[in-house]
Amino acid sequence: MRVTTFAASALLVVALSACSGPAPTAAGPTGTAASSAGIPGPAPTAAGLTGTAAASAGAPEATPESGPGATSDPAAGPTPGGLPAPLQREPASAPSTSGAAASPEATPPATGAHADPRAVDVVVNKRRPLVPLDFAPAELRRPGVATATDNALLRPDVSTAVEEMFAAAAADGVGLTLVSGYRSYANQESTYASWVAQYGDAAGADTVSARPGYSEHQTGLAFDVGQADGACTLVLCFRDTPAAQWAAARAADYGFILRYPLGYHEITGFSAESWHFRYVGKDVSLAMKAAGTQTLEEHFGLSAAPSY
Ligand code: DAL
Ligand code: ZN
Repeated sequence: MRVTTFAASALLVVALSACSGPAPTAAGPTGTAASSAGIPGPAPTAAGLTGTAAASAGAPEATPESGPGATSDPAAGPTPGGLPAPLQREPASAPSTSGAAASPEATPPATGAHADPRAVDVVVNKRRPLVPLDFAPAELRRPGVATATDNALLRPDVSTAVEEMFAAAAADGVGLTLVSGYRSYANQESTYASWVAQYGDAAGADTVSARPGYSEHQTGLAFDVGQADGACTLVLCFRDTPAAQWAAARAADYGFILRYPLGYHEITGFSAESWHFRYVGKDVSLAMKAAGTQTLEEHFGLSAAPSY
């Protein structure tokens, strides 16, 4: 099922895959970022939000984290129009033509195993929307690590794992920063819309950004990592940084997997993202690492999800 061919036209668009979060700050990690958790459905408990985070809840994400309009220069910042300047992308998969423009409602909700969005073994992809679509975790906490944007909330258990992972990286001389964590349905909605605007159609946006109700970021289990100095944040060259290489090699020890590996877009549905890590717990992450399994779909024996 591994796909190694890409559309020639897509190769011309040097792509970065976009988890579609907020644009990273030009100044790099702040360590004091607040959350912007816009929550349309059941709200996270107040106990899980810091005062600053709660105060900014509801603020939509203004720009995607990367994509055809983003920049490979973290210092370049957004354009006057509010969208990032042009940037490179990962070698992109050709957008699947089978259902690429279908509405999320066209896909029946996932049921049975790996469908509970409260469970660490949930599988969310283009064929497995969150149930309900506007799901929000019961509790969120900002981990005590350096952050590059305001979107730094994660589930408490994931925050603890992130703290352990970042501390281990620091002990190895590698500085990590948390670029984007939990995103609400509303945040993902505005983020995805910005991608559609940049690409000009849904087919292009669907290669890099999940539709609202279909993003792992909405579970509080996923985060995008950056290098502490801001180098190559959310763009293709990130994969060559010490941060990316450390995370790729060691994330499994803390219960994380690289969710969108290069060459597996026909299974995962998205272009490679060397920065997007998903908490699955150590049992799964270490088992996948030992077996060399690259995707959650393969590990759990689930169908590929190349399109909606
Ligand atoms: N970029 C990933 C697929 C997301 O939007 O969740
Ligand atoms: Zn991501």
